[in-house]
Amino acid sequence: MKNIFVEGLVNGTEFDDFFLLKTVAVKKGSNNKEYIDMQLSDKTGDVSAKKWDASPQEIQMVNEFQDNPIVKVRASVGEWMGRKQLKITRFRLVKEEDNVDISAFIKTAPEDGQSMYDHIMKRLETVQDEDLRKVGVALMERRKEKLLYWPAASKNHHAEMGGLLYHMKRMLDMGEKACSVYTNLKKDWVIVGVVIHDMEKINEIMSDKWGISPGYSFEGQLLGHIAQGVKMIDRLAAELDIPEEKAVMLEHMILSHHYEPEFGSPKRPMFPEAELLHYLDILDARMFDMEDTLKSVEPGEFSESVRTLDGRRLYKPKFEGSGKAE
Ligand SMILES: [Fe+2]
Ligand SMILES: [Fe+2]
Repeated sequence: MKNIFVEGLVNGTEFDDFFLLKTVAVKKGSNNKEYIDMQLSDKTGDVSAKKWDASPQEIQMVNEFQDNPIVKVRASVGEWMGRKQLKITRFRLVKEEDNVDISAFIKTAPEDGQSMYDHIMKRLETVQDEDLRKVGVALMERRKEKLLYWPAASKNHHAEMGGLLYHMKRMLDMGEKACSVYTNLKKDWVIVGVVIHDMEKINEIMSDKWGISPGYSFEGQLLGHIAQGVKMIDRLAAELDIPEEKAVMLEHMILSHHYEPEFGSPKRPMFPEAELLHYLDILDARMFDMEDTLKSVEPGEFSESVRTLDGRRLYKPKFEGSGKAE
């Protein structure tokens, strides 16, 4: 049974509880003594934790951990540079008799993978341009197995099981709404652009079956999902015999969706659907980060500074909101 969750950690308290060990490393402190640096997590978030002055037995134990084990830690809650940090006094691996339920540790998208997949496929079926539909459907079908659980990031927005599909689905729904307001937009391009824009995250970041990502793949590290995505469309267009104009426009949508060269886009969007794609992407990421951050903020208080929101601190009002979306 798990009692303490990352989002409920209170400064100064001491506890004994289970966490998922996301990353672990043995490091040397400024006093030349070895310590163990852990990133612990559960479904509510991540927290950094240190075991100072690690004993040889503890270091030995770390070297024997397999991927993403569940550990029990005795620790006290403190703060470092404005962020919560745990000071561990003892830790051990979970045992069978602890009867721990893995679902308490896994961050998952609020919707089930298969139903998000079906929703996106239904929207793709409405695409009238046969070439565009073929590209979208081929990618969804070929990557289905991984899409059902893949996260959209290793950290930050949608770093959760099913996060990539959830990101695509919300952008798709928002994109279709935008098409009813901005009637110059061609819906086919919006739908397929959303479906393909981050598709290569499957080859950019790594993930286990719980949607927990240990980081980037070799190709992801050197190329990134934008360059990987352009290569992917290039190959697929040749295979499916997609006319050059359409293939290059799809590549451009992937290429320009981060907008700024310093965020990985060598070109800015050059047609309206590509412009919209960028805004759908950024909107979904920001809404996710804001919602996620505010979960652990008390009413009437400000959050800690959020790196992915340019260091902003968010405010959570005291009143119960009216007019919240159903
Ligand atoms: Fe992206
Ligand atoms: Fe995205």
